[in-house]
Amino acid sequence: MQNLGLIFVLLLFVNVVCGVETEVVEAVSVILGDSVTLQSEVTQIQRNDVFEWRFSGHRIAIINSDRNNKVQAEVTEKIRDNLQLDHQTGDLKIRNIRTADCGLYELDINSARGSSKKSFSISGVASDDTKVVLVMERDSVILPSGLSEIQREDQITWKFKDTLIAKINETAGIFSTYDDVLDGRFRYRLHLTNQTGSLIVTNVKPNISGLYEINISKSSSRYTMHKTFNVTSKEGESRQSATEGNSVTLLSGVPEIHSDDVIVWRSEHGDSIIAKIDRGKVLTTLDGADGRYSGTLELDSKTGSLTIRHIRTEHAGLYHLDITGQRRTIFKRFFISVCSQNWFRYVMVVIVVAVLLLVVIGAIAVIRCRQTQNGKYYKKLMY
Ligand SMILES: *[C@@H]1O[C@H](CO)[C@@H](O)[C@H](O)[C@H]1NC(C)=O
Ligand SMILES: *[C@@H]1O[C@H](CO)[C@@H](O)[C@H](O)[C@H]1NC(C)=O
Ligand SMILES: *[C@@H]1O[C@H](CO)[C@@H](O)[C@H](O)[C@H]1NC(C)=O
Ligand SMILES: *[C@@H]1O[C@H](CO)[C@@H](O)[C@H](O)[C@H]1NC(C)=O
Ligand SMILES: *[C@@H]1O[C@H](CO)[C@@H](O)[C@H](O)[C@H]1NC(C)=O
Repeated sequence: MQNLGLIFVLLLFVNVVCGVETEVVEAVSVILGDSVTLQSEVTQIQRNDVFEWRFSGHRIAIINSDRNNKVQAEVTEKIRDNLQLDHQTGDLKIRNIRTADCGLYELDINSARGSSKKSFSISGVASDDTKVVLVMERDSVILPSGLSEIQREDQITWKFKDTLIAKINETAGIFSTYDDVLDGRFRYRLHLTNQTGSLIVTNVKPNISGLYEINISKSSSRYTMHKTFNVTSKEGESRQSATEGNSVTLLSGVPEIHSDDVIVWRSEHGDSIIAKIDRGKVLTTLDGADGRYSGTLELDSKTGSLTIRHIRTEHAGLYHLDITGQRRTIFKRFFISVCSQNWFRYVMVVIVVAVLLLVVIGAIAVIRCRQTQNGKYYKKLMY
C-alpha cells in the first residue's frame, strides 16, 4: 500500500515535470548583424490580452489590450533601441543582432482563453553587416540566401525597396518572380536558384540599385530571418591593354582579403574558373577549357589580384572576379586587349611598301615630265 502511494506520488511528480518540459525552447541561430522576428503565433491581439516579452528573465516589452481592444505596446528596456513590436500580433523584431542580444527570450501570453508561454534561444554566428554589393552595369549579380539547401518547409520572400519581387513556397513547390513590378524594370532579369533560393539579377541597370531584403521562415518554426543587401551598380568595366609577351595584373581592388572570403576568377573562354582562393587555399590554373593559361597565372594570396604572364592574343577578352564573404560581395569585370607583336612587323612592311610606291610614282612622274618637255622642244624646232 505504501509502495503504491509512493508510485502515485512519483507519477504525479513526473507528470508535473513533463508538464513543464512540454514548453519547447526554439533554437534560433542568427548571423550577427542580421535581424530576426520572433512570432507570437497570434494573428490578432484580443481584448484584455497581456503579452510580456522577457530577455534573460528581465522584462523588455509589454503589450496590453484593454476592454475596448485598445492596444498599448511598449518596449520597456530603453537601452535596446533595436527592438520593434508588432501591435497586431505581438511579434518581436530584433534588428541588427549583436552578441549582447543573444540569449533566452520568453513570451508570456495571458488572455481570457488561457495563458501560454513561448521561448526562443538566440545564438549569434559570425559577423555580418548589410552586405554591400558592387556590380558592373550589364553584369549579373547573385544575392545569396545563405541557405545551403532549401528545406521542405521553407518560405522565402525577396523584396526590393519594399516591393515583393520573388517568392518561394517549397511546401507547395512554388518558385515565383514578379518582374512586372516597378514599371517593369526587372523584366526578364529575375531568377531564383533552385537549390538555395538565392536571387540572381541579370543585366544590371542603375535603376535596380538599392536595398534588397530576404525573409526566410519555416512553416513549423516561429521566427523569420532577415538579411539585407545594398546593391550599387557601376558603369563600365575596367579596360587594360598589353602587348604580347608582357604581363598584365588585374587588381582585385581590395586591400586585403578576409579569411572567410572566396575569390573566384573566371575567364570568358569556356566560362571557366581559372583561379580561386577558398578560405585561404590558393588554387591557380584550374584551367577549365583547353590549357591556354597553363603556366601563366599568378594569384596574390594577400589581395586576390591576378597576374597573367607572357600574355598571348588568345588571352584577350573578358574576365570576371567574384569576391563573396560574410561581410561583402564584390563583382568586377575586366576587359583585356592584347596587341600582337606581329602587328609591328605588319606596320613596318606597310611603311616600306608605301615608301617604295612613292619612289616608283615619283620616278614615273619625272620620266613623263621629261618626255613632255622633249616633245615641246621638237615642236619649237619645226617652226
Ligand atoms: C519581412 O518581414 C517583415 C515583417 O516581419 C516585413 O516588414 C518585411 O517587409 C518582410 N520582407 C520581405 C522581404 O518579405
Ligand atoms: C505554402 O504552401 C502551402 C501548401 O500549399 C500552404 O498551405 C501555405 O499557406 C503556403 N504558404 C505561404 C506563405 O503562402
Ligand atoms: C531603367 O533603366 C533602363 C536603362 O537605364 C531604362 O531602359 C529603363 O527604362 C529604366 N526603367 C525604369 C522603370 O525607370
Ligand atoms: C529548376 O526547377 C525548374 C522547375 O522545376 C526547372 O525547370 C529548372 O530546369 C530547374 N533549374 C535547375 C538549374 O535545376
Ligand atoms: C547603399 O550604398 C550606397 C553607396 O555605397 C550608399 O550611398 C547608401 O547610403 C547605402 N544605403 C544603405 C541603406 O546603407
